[in-house]
Amino acid sequence: ILRDEVRNILRPFQLTEEQLRRVMANLNTEMTNALKVDNSVENDLAMFPTYVHHGPSGKESGEYLVVDLGGSNFRVSHVFIEGRNRMRLNNKIFLIPHSLLLGEGEKLFDYIAECLQRFIDDNKLSVLKTADYKFDLAFTFSFPCQQKSLREATLVSWTKGFSCTSVVGNDVVLMLQQAIDRRKNLPIQVVALVNDTVGTLMACSSNYRDCKAGVILGTGMNACYFEALDNIPKWKGARDNQTKQVIINTEWGALGKNGCLDFIRTDIDRELDESSLTPHQQVFEKMISALYLGEIVRLIIVDLVQRSILFPGRMQKSPSIRPDYNIFLILRGSFYAKHVADIENDTTDDLSTTATILTSIGIHDPSYDDCFIIREVCKTVSLRAAKLAAAAIAVLINRLNMSSVTVAVDGTLFRHHEQFKQNLSRTLGRLVLRAHRLVLSEDGSSKGSALVAAVDRRLKTSPI
Ligand code: BG6
Ligand code: GLC
Repeated sequence: ILRDEVRNILRPFQLTEEQLRRVMANLNTEMTNALKVDNSVENDLAMFPTYVHHGPSGKESGEYLVVDLGGSNFRVSHVFIEGRNRMRLNNKIFLIPHSLLLGEGEKLFDYIAECLQRFIDDNKLSVLKTADYKFDLAFTFSFPCQQKSLREATLVSWTKGFSCTSVVGNDVVLMLQQAIDRRKNLPIQVVALVNDTVGTLMACSSNYRDCKAGVILGTGMNACYFEALDNIPKWKGARDNQTKQVIINTEWGALGKNGCLDFIRTDIDRELDESSLTPHQQVFEKMISALYLGEIVRLIIVDLVQRSILFPGRMQKSPSIRPDYNIFLILRGSFYAKHVADIENDTTDDLSTTATILTSIGIHDPSYDDCFIIREVCKTVSLRAAKLAAAAIAVLINRLNMSSVTVAVDGTLFRHHEQFKQNLSRTLGRLVLRAHRLVLSEDGSSKGSALVAAVDRRLKTSPI
């Protein structure tokens, strides 16, 4: 049933082990180069030191607020830490109006402060607190930030679907603190800025001693890991008996900026990139993460429609001429990673699940052949993403150079896309010999960011 034409279109998405090993070698080189000097023009990767030097010891305690911005949900959490493995969390998801993601930066921060106020009031958190009490807040902010300390972080660029004005180049900790202070009666001090990968790693490392890396496979995709300061020539901070390592936020989604992934990029990848909010940025991320997977599939489908392979005789050759014909074919972002996952998992004999999903997005009465081809497209795109993610994680595991490594993982792709997860683990098993396991870090970013603040508090009161 798969016509040669379909096979030819999908072939560039099918990666060989040799290609994956070349991706690994390139990523490893870029990681090493970016640890040498900060050079945002020459280096693909940022490899930001995060100023988190220690995992939790088990002696952390206290209550913290966490604001978690940058994944598919914006959340405020109240976290209690009572020693090793004992954490309680109460959280609430707030919707962010889409206009705020693309509007004025200050408005976004004012909205975050407003949500914090609502959360404190609704949960009566200030009751029984003294008049001068201030909550310590950890800010999980999942974007590339150049840090000067745990609480000084300049946003270098927006990624994913965000693009607010007047934030890039500014200290986001200060912006959040100013928005909080504008509200007068909000007793909160921002004490730490934490990338979601770092939160994920910290939360998991309180249970697994060999957990030294954190990976997000969600709306975006990124990783962090513990690196020895001796391996970071660009490190200018403290270096003493207590400070021998630091978590590096790799921002590896940016790989490919200078062309090192061109050998596997397809015309569809270029098309997606050109029409994105961030052309020529986050090349690797755009081949893997949930924000883009559905769009890659949609662009392939549009191509197949234009070649009259899909829905023959039913669709206009050029959908843009007849915008009324099918909104799905003209609307960027109208096909989601969830659709890819559900169609890929369709095991019904008549592919009725696929047909139902297609109908729900406006493609009525698809034929069995149409469904079959679309399921192949979903499988191919999702398998490529899983293989590339595996190649990247393999590099991390190899760099850590430990006899066994636990990698903490979070994000919708890993949590909800079963086939993706299986393909990832299988490929990883082929690419690395070292013992490893991937562990889901449930609520990792919120718990882990609170832990970052708690470790900092503990070290201030009783240094190692
Ligand atoms: C969650 C974090 O655990 O994982 C988020 O709380 C993070 O901050 C997220 O960004 C990644 O998942 P997704 O799929 O929601 O982007
Ligand atoms: C994007 C962000 C990065 C984040 C990742 C996962 O790649 O730049 O900071 O960790 O998405 O949310």
